[in-house]
Amino acid sequence: MKIHVPKHIESLIPYKPGKPIADLISEHGVDEVAKLASNENPLGASPLAIAAAIESMKDAAYYPNGGKSIREALAKYYGLSVDEVIAGSGSEGVMNTVMRTFLVEGDEVITSEGTFGGFYVLAHAMGLNLRLVPMKDYAYDLDKIADAVTPQTRFIYLANPNNPTGSYFNKQKLVEFLTRIPNTVLVMYDEAYYDFAIDDVPDYPSLLTSHIPNVVTLRTFSKSHGLAGLRIGFGVAAPEVIQLMLKVKLPFEPSGPAQAAGIAALEDVKFLKQTIEVNREGKAQWRAALSELGLKFVETAANFYCVILDSATEADRVLHGMEREGIIVRPLAGFGMPNAIRISIGTPQQNARAIEVLNTVMETANS
Ligand SMILES: Cc1ncc(COP(=O)(O)O)c(C=O)c1O
Repeated sequence: MKIHVPKHIESLIPYKPGKPIADLISEHGVDEVAKLASNENPLGASPLAIAAAIESMKDAAYYPNGGKSIREALAKYYGLSVDEVIAGSGSEGVMNTVMRTFLVEGDEVITSEGTFGGFYVLAHAMGLNLRLVPMKDYAYDLDKIADAVTPQTRFIYLANPNNPTGSYFNKQKLVEFLTRIPNTVLVMYDEAYYDFAIDDVPDYPSLLTSHIPNVVTLRTFSKSHGLAGLRIGFGVAAPEVIQLMLKVKLPFEPSGPAQAAGIAALEDVKFLKQTIEVNREGKAQWRAALSELGLKFVETAANFYCVILDSATEADRVLHGMEREGIIVRPLAGFGMPNAIRISIGTPQQNARAIEVLNTVMETANS
């Protein structure tokens, strides 16, 4: 007997995360590794969050409460009502819930080329009719995305700032875009890099408290709060939307330690401030280095740089050259950009070392 496998699953290329540090050590025998591949927090996690997660382990034998604790904390923090908030195992967990709630196989969904690979994988895994609109100068082309909407369109995904390019669109662009989108189309607006963007972009358009009926806004604790390993993110939408999502969400997502850490991280203003400062400095450090090397890169509003190389072969060469010296960066084929790499901004020391390695790798090409 052969088990039936849906065609869209058979052809599915799974999401490929950044290479773990342990893998690089075993592959290349290097003893000092900087992982600049997954836009994680180079300062680690908020110490308050770690302490809260450890404390919550006393309840490890009990099932968690489905997100109740963190939903209440988030509602209080952002001045929302609890029934406007949902939490999940990372924002990708929430993304999964949104999509399983509102979409079925064959539904038409639209996003940009060169955006978050995790969304592409979820869309393909559900057998959705995914339509990709080309980028304009490595950024979302919102006019063309609005033009692409048809009576069959059910859903649009926007990441602002975008991963992996780091580009962003401003308030005016977003408002114009939203006025063109029928209210029957659900817009999933992903603010994973909000804390970095708001530091950089005076008119960064957060929709978290906008109360637009057909918008779900996503945020994560994985980046600026350093909790990627604990898996905690959240979504905000109209109560009717959240109520439907709660029917579909895995009942015990997110875990107790993840919720405890998230709640504590919300209050750790000092850690967040340090994170933003380190990122601001690192951004300047990388910008200067990439310019000096004459490399093409996208201006970023997030915690990484997207570097455009001449070809996929060259991107591969640079990536492997850096890996051999203990620097893990991200290949972008899974994001639809095989000729580019993404470098997450690290501590000043990690950046300095990675820049030195990149310089050597580029020199080797030119010699
Ligand atoms: C734009 C964007 N959205 C969502 C995620 C998922 O984050 P998490 O599931 O860790 O919250 C990421 C992670 O890289 C991202 O870049």
